[in-house]
Amino acid sequence: MGKFLSSRATGYEPLFVLKPVARDVWIADGSWIRFYGLPFPTRMTVIRLSDGSLWVHSPIADKVGIADAVAALGEVRYLIAPNWIHYAWIPDWQAKFRSAVTWGSPGVVARADKYGVQLQIDHELDDHAPPDWEDQIDQRLADSGVHREVVFFHRASRTLVLTDLIENFEKHKMPLWVRPLLKLGRVCDPDGRMPRDMALSFSRRPKYLLALVKAMIDWSPERIILAHGRWYEEKGEQELRRAFRDVLRA
Ligand SMILES: [Fe+2]
Repeated sequence: MGKFLSSRATGYEPLFVLKPVARDVWIADGSWIRFYGLPFPTRMTVIRLSDGSLWVHSPIADKVGIADAVAALGEVRYLIAPNWIHYAWIPDWQAKFRSAVTWGSPGVVARADKYGVQLQIDHELDDHAPPDWEDQIDQRLADSGVHREVVFFHRASRTLVLTDLIENFEKHKMPLWVRPLLKLGRVCDPDGRMPRDMALSFSRRPKYLLALVKAMIDWSPERIILAHGRWYEEKGEQELRRAFRDVLRA
């Protein structure tokens, strides 16, 4: 396992390289991160706003010059910690881009603190996009009481940006020992869904989750970027109906 991780391969090579997704939208795949001992491949999303500034979602480790490559696209104005557990490299990016403004999910500062990280954020994200980007990016808060994540929709490119709300691991790219857990968590490509434990945490708020899913469907996304695993390049709305079929059926 150690060897597997130390190879730095995640299956989404090339790593630490900007990959164009749509006009003014890029992703970059990063190295593994461990979460409760499990290896997760990482991915960030960069959106260039209409004034040329950049909105950086869930920044990955700054290796192989990826932060400089991002800066070459425009001014890094916003750093986004999109859910309560996605903050690992925010401090590094803050140190590099001192004028950037950090927006963090509810719960992320307390969570980081619990793990000994003094995370500084400038603003807390909520259920409405702030004036800073509301004319271009919509957002909604997904709050189960345990999991808190803000979902985003870039209107011009019809790109939905999720973090952990759907995970879609390609089994052949994952270590053997993890595969049964992924199946149990029902987060295997192509039928990636909300991880089972997260779905359980939402089970006390079925109407709330249904309203959120419907709001995302109403956005009619063409594509869905995910932080972990294969993302959905097309038919985003259809993928939402598939991934949340239980919620829609209830
Ligand atoms: Fe994650």
